[in-house]
Amino acid sequence: MKRTTVLALVLSAVATAPAMAETAPGDVVYEEGAVAASLSGAPGDPENGAKVMTTAAKGNCVACHVIESMPNVQFPGTIAPALDGVADRYSEAQLRGLVANAKMTFEGTFMPAFYKTEGFIRPGAAYTGKAPEGPLPPILTAQEIEDVVAYLLTLKE
Ligand code: HEC
Repeated sequence: MKRTTVLALVLSAVATAPAMAETAPGDVVYEEGAVAASLSGAPGDPENGAKVMTTAAKGNCVACHVIESMPNVQFPGTIAPALDGVADRYSEAQLRGLVANAKMTFEGTFMPAFYKTEGFIRPGAAYTGKAPEGPLPPILTAQEIEDVVAYLLTLKE
């Protein structure tokens, strides 16, 4: 094949590929709390997931959950179940649903919904004392949810 032909084929493949397989927060389909398909369309990175979980401005999961395999967390919260062995208790789809919106699994839970943009109770625009304009961004991106799920899947006992 001539180089120009190859280039033309590559370009047409790029042009016809779907822009991004990301699912918007409002389009997530929950089946009994579980979400079967990847939210970003890409596999998760467990290492980044661990970072998201321990970063206060991101998941901050350790504010409520103890995770024995994260020895560097100094004062983990204990008001929620320990996450050790969580991959033995839940499937990948169940974990994705739990991280995206735990209220779909545990009605009335105080665990925050990390992938949601509407239906909040009295949200405020940070530090302004005013109501926010337009929809709020989700706390975590689709890829960050996938990264957290990938890390949770390593928590086997
Ligand atoms: C504000 C506290 C809080 C934060 C922050 C929080 N959770 Fe939770 N989580 C809970 C509570 C409470 C439960 C138990 C469900 C219930 O009964 O309400 C729970 C349950 C879970 C479960 C199910 C555990 C089991 O054994 O049944 C998983 C998995 C989970 N959380 C993951 C996460 C991840 C991942 C994050 C961070 C992205 C996170 N949680 C952040 C409070 C929290």
